[in-house]
Amino acid sequence: MDYKPVFSYESKSYESKARQPPSFMNRAIRRLQRYGFALPALSTRQIRYIAFAIFVLVVYTVFLPSSSVDPSDTSGFVGPAPKPPPAPRPRPAKGSSDKTTSPFRIQAKFGTETGAAKDIRLERQKEVKEAFVHAWQGYKKHAWLHDEVLPISGGNKDPFVGWAATLVDGLDTLYIMGLQDEFEDALKALEEIDFSKPNAERIPVFETTIRYLGGMLGAYDISEGKYPILLEKADQLGEMLFRAFRTANGIPVPYYWWQKNQKLQGENNVLIAQIGSLSLEFTRLAQLTGKNKYFDGISRITDHLDKAQNNTRIPGLWPCTVDTTGPSFPGAIFTLGAWADSLYEYLPKEHLLLGGASDQYLRMYNTALIAASKYHFFKPKTPGDQDILFTGKVEASGETPTLVTEVQHLGCFVGGMVGLGSRINDSPTELAMAIRLSDSCYWAYTNTASGIMPEIFHIDQCPAEGSCTWTNEEQSGLGKQYGFTSIADTSYQLRPEAIESIFIMWRITGDPEWMEKGWLMWQAIAKHTRTEIANARLGDVTNENPSQEDSMESFWLAETLKYFYLLFSETGLVSLDEFVLNTEAHPFRQQDNLLS
Ligand SMILES: *[C@@H]1O[C@H](CO)[C@@H](O)[C@H](O)[C@H]1NC(C)=O
Repeated sequence: MDYKPVFSYESKSYESKARQPPSFMNRAIRRLQRYGFALPALSTRQIRYIAFAIFVLVVYTVFLPSSSVDPSDTSGFVGPAPKPPPAPRPRPAKGSSDKTTSPFRIQAKFGTETGAAKDIRLERQKEVKEAFVHAWQGYKKHAWLHDEVLPISGGNKDPFVGWAATLVDGLDTLYIMGLQDEFEDALKALEEIDFSKPNAERIPVFETTIRYLGGMLGAYDISEGKYPILLEKADQLGEMLFRAFRTANGIPVPYYWWQKNQKLQGENNVLIAQIGSLSLEFTRLAQLTGKNKYFDGISRITDHLDKAQNNTRIPGLWPCTVDTTGPSFPGAIFTLGAWADSLYEYLPKEHLLLGGASDQYLRMYNTALIAASKYHFFKPKTPGDQDILFTGKVEASGETPTLVTEVQHLGCFVGGMVGLGSRINDSPTELAMAIRLSDSCYWAYTNTASGIMPEIFHIDQCPAEGSCTWTNEEQSGLGKQYGFTSIADTSYQLRPEAIESIFIMWRITGDPEWMEKGWLMWQAIAKHTRTEIANARLGDVTNENPSQEDSMESFWLAETLKYFYLLFSETGLVSLDEFVLNTEAHPFRQQDNLLS
């Protein structure tokens, strides 16, 4: 998952220069002698030794503090966690990737498949795999070890610290698709990546966590712990990222300038998703390494969110930006889309990852869901009066919160989230809601000339009184798009959220209709995005033949293609009864032994 941050910085590639010892030693010695620091009995040679030792000490403490600080020692920076903790906190037990049974039943009991249905399914799966191999080869040939390949020009770019984002993000998809040789080649390359040495001045904490840390943990878990290098590197990166948590209240800075020796401060206008969706990765890292500090770190954040939840402008929900100095949550814009999305997504998922050992996350999720279904979810006015629900934006600056019927592709994960929650809560009402939420994004795909949903559009809410059927034929300026009232962003950025929900609905309902829906979406996406090198984002999906743009983010390989592939795989592959997927589709194994 990804969005444009409020403050977007261009990442610069950064050459770190080795520090040369300066040649002021002789001057320093003379000065020492002049001020009488040197004992008369000492020889020049001894003075030189002492001066050198002082020099080394000064350089070490003043100029190179980042390496002198033990990242595991957070006591000097982080205040105590709020007491008492709102729920008995489960301690992650040092664990392996051993299979354990989750206490939750998420997946459906699937009916038997006819031979003909299986043939079709496998044919489709093969096509998805072929697309993955094509894009992976393009990356390998043109941008190996860079963050992204440019799918039209064949260039490359490094927006995510230059640690080979596409490679690391794509690791577990390689494994899942059975591309064993490619997987092992990629692991060899991974050995050379040093996560204690960023290739940029600042580290975007959230994106680095979900793509890189999530990528390595997912690959480690899905390969059943057979490749220790993955956990080793994940821990190396975890230590680096954890340095960003050393603020007074324990809420990490969103961008970590790793070379600056400053006391880290809270900031205003931090996106809530940037602090609220680190829990899965750091919990899994704690479970696998046995280092409880990682879990304590994210628990502190959760406690702040928990405390604030019922005291915002819409009790139950968090505004999309936060002042992390307090923290305080005075914001008036509420969304489940960009800037907030994975905060909500991680609540039921963290409950699953902890094996239900704490009720904190589920309680927070259930409280949020009540408010979201009241204020955010709405039935649109559509041709043929579709029985679907979209997720809108809410402004709460006045007396009563107002719905803005803006729909984002990023918000399409909500169907899957509510679906997972419905299995945890064993709630048929929530399941019905999840179906309508997932169907809305599918409908939006079918409602454009290209067959792909736009990034952001507006649509009218079905009025409380009167017809819900859209009939305004005059509004044909939008081409084949019937029902949209405006399209704020016509692009398709290779995003996964819609197919993510379709995949989850298939696995939890066992209704093969979801595969058919996904297949229609696939055909449109595959046709329009493919380039000679890989796949490209699209400029205008309301066009029958959208133009391509020279960009392919790593989530295309990590998420979009993985979800399409799993939609047509055996249902036991990455079973949702065994794995919980982070917001970048990296599968973490659920464990139920956390209180042991
Ligand atoms: C917030 O309110 C909901 C009910 O509206 C309640 O269930 C929940 O426990 C409250 N959370 C806290 C932290 O008090």
